[in-house]
Amino acid sequence: MKPQILIARAIFPEVIAKLAQHFDVESNPSDALWTQAELTHKLQGRQGVFTTGGERIDAELLAACPDLKICANMAVGYNNFDIAAMTAAGVLGTNAPDVLTETTADFGFALLMATARRMAEAEHFLRAGHWTRWRYDMFAGADIHGATLGILGMGRIGQGIARRGAMGFGMKVIYHNRSRLDAATEAECKASFVGKEELLRSADHLVLVLPYSASSHHAIGAAELAQMKPTATLVNIARGGIVDDAALAVALRNKTIAAAGLDVFEGEPKVHPDLLTVPNVVLTPHIASATMPTRLAMAHLAADNLIGYLIHNKPLTPLNPAVLAL
Ligand code: DGY
Repeated sequence: MKPQILIARAIFPEVIAKLAQHFDVESNPSDALWTQAELTHKLQGRQGVFTTGGERIDAELLAACPDLKICANMAVGYNNFDIAAMTAAGVLGTNAPDVLTETTADFGFALLMATARRMAEAEHFLRAGHWTRWRYDMFAGADIHGATLGILGMGRIGQGIARRGAMGFGMKVIYHNRSRLDAATEAECKASFVGKEELLRSADHLVLVLPYSASSHHAIGAAELAQMKPTATLVNIARGGIVDDAALAVALRNKTIAAAGLDVFEGEPKVHPDLLTVPNVVLTPHIASATMPTRLAMAHLAADNLIGYLIHNKPLTPLNPAVLAL
């Protein structure tokens, strides 16, 4: 008998076909959004689940799914997993790092440029038929080249953004991270470590790339926004909840900062209504990793983790390797 797995969302048919060579697969081709109770019900008797970042794996679900051995996330972020509860239950978690680094850094930079150069505002203006003449300050934004790029969270994606800024646009790069990078990596990224306050005060453009956790919840709120330059832009490609979206909407309206670019939102896919009515924000629906080759690579990595663990006892990117020693 093949092990049984569940694929929680619609994914590439070729990845489903690969999984079906090894497993008895229940997939979700209609891409239905299951409640927690439905997910729990569907996981009965299943050893593995392919998740996409939105499915919550917590102590309650784990207690109700005693056959579950692995949850493979098709995302690098895994704040949908309660890793401590999974480890306690002997359930392995895996994520999808590396394969999305450059694509996500590209998008972070694109969102930064669109925000600083007011592209969304300008496009809406043109589409609405308001463009009737030239004006000296029409949609005049902020320069990227030569500006100071601040990065909060300097993992692989943060480093990719630093390299783009330093080498592509001659930016001065400063960063803050829980731990300082080694000297060789700092030199490679041309980035200098600073305290969080200095980062907030000095950055012309601040990009957030830190993981979400209880300690990063509202890491950027009213107090932090007040420390930033009134000409600064803020970009969040990390996770909703890292920015206090209500406070950000107030700061954008009051011009405490000049503009923001947001790919992630607290409580997404809902977006704080105040953000929808301020003009100086570029809003995208969590698509930083969304190129076809990268999404395919992420899906294959999640599938390879399921196959690696349930068939060969060798997962590729385990998050709680303590489970492997059980
Ligand atoms: C990730 O991988 O964590 C991304 O946010 C998903 O697109």
